[in-house]
Amino acid sequence: MLALVMALVVTGCASDAPQSALDPAGPFARSLHNLFIPVVWVATAVFVVVEGVIVYAVIKWRRRADDDGEVLPAQMHGNTKLEIGWTILPALVLGLVAIFTIPVIFELNAKPADALQVSVAGQKYWWGYTYGTQPQFGITQANGIVTANELHIPAGQTVNLTLTSTDVIHSFWAPRLNGKRDVVPGRSHNWLLEADQPGVYAGQCAEFCGTSHANMLLKVVAHDPVGWTDWVEQMQREPLEPVSGAAARGFALFAQKGCSGCHQVDGSYEMVAPDSPSAPNLTHLFSRDCFAGCIYDLNDRNEMEAWLRNPQRKAGSLMVVGALTEDEIDDLYAYLETLE
Ligand code: CUA
Repeated sequence: MLALVMALVVTGCASDAPQSALDPAGPFARSLHNLFIPVVWVATAVFVVVEGVIVYAVIKWRRRADDDGEVLPAQMHGNTKLEIGWTILPALVLGLVAIFTIPVIFELNAKPADALQVSVAGQKYWWGYTYGTQPQFGITQANGIVTANELHIPAGQTVNLTLTSTDVIHSFWAPRLNGKRDVVPGRSHNWLLEADQPGVYAGQCAEFCGTSHANMLLKVVAHDPVGWTDWVEQMQREPLEPVSGAAARGFALFAQKGCSGCHQVDGSYEMVAPDSPSAPNLTHLFSRDCFAGCIYDLNDRNEMEAWLRNPQRKAGSLMVVGALTEDEIDDLYAYLETLE
């Protein structure tokens, strides 16, 4: 019993947990939190009253030592007043909860026209983000901005996500910024995010989607105005093709080894094979801190080299690459590093 209680208490508590819905960091998460707390108290009150009555009844009318079972207590059937009471009371409690809930449902399902619009594609096992051209947010490039795993947003501004899936059902969840929203193939769901302050907010896929469901993490990076302008500027910078050395050899290998069949690099490798599995756009790969569903640190060269040796180190990864020599891996890395 002690072990069970300890397990529950210990797994439920972490003062510095990065993904706590109990520590909201934006207006939508706060609305949910403000709804959650009173409902928890109402539920707690109901629990205490119901359990209290049960415990009282169990103790007061327990079988006594001198009860030989010969004499039955007075038999009764039904109690209209009580039955009406315990039908109406829960209905009133649920009605009260609904009064608080309904405005939040509308708030979370709004589609503010002045919000930053981002399309999110959930797929095995990573997140793709497409920002259409939006001059009011500095995005002027005709094909917008395409990135993966790390969702960049301006702090203090509402972001309207349009969620779709290319394969199975996923669920987008950045707990400190909003609740979960299912990401369903063939459908398009709306979801809002907003962070009060600049910062990095952890999240993950919250719907079991296959082998690497647990490896389908995400990050929301909220910028101050200067940081946002810098990021947008960096993402719209034309990448340069390397002309000499290891990076140039890596650039050639990127096509020879089939990388360009799935991974797009704007300006260099634009044509992915029509039947290729979806793969992150690598145009500004090194503007990110993590890769492969955000489970590996992009700033750790060993992680990237290990990935190129064997993409199956992340179970269920759709990436296929033939055996590469260590020299080829070094060259490919040298090229990828230029994509910033
Ligand atoms: Cu995607 Cu779980």
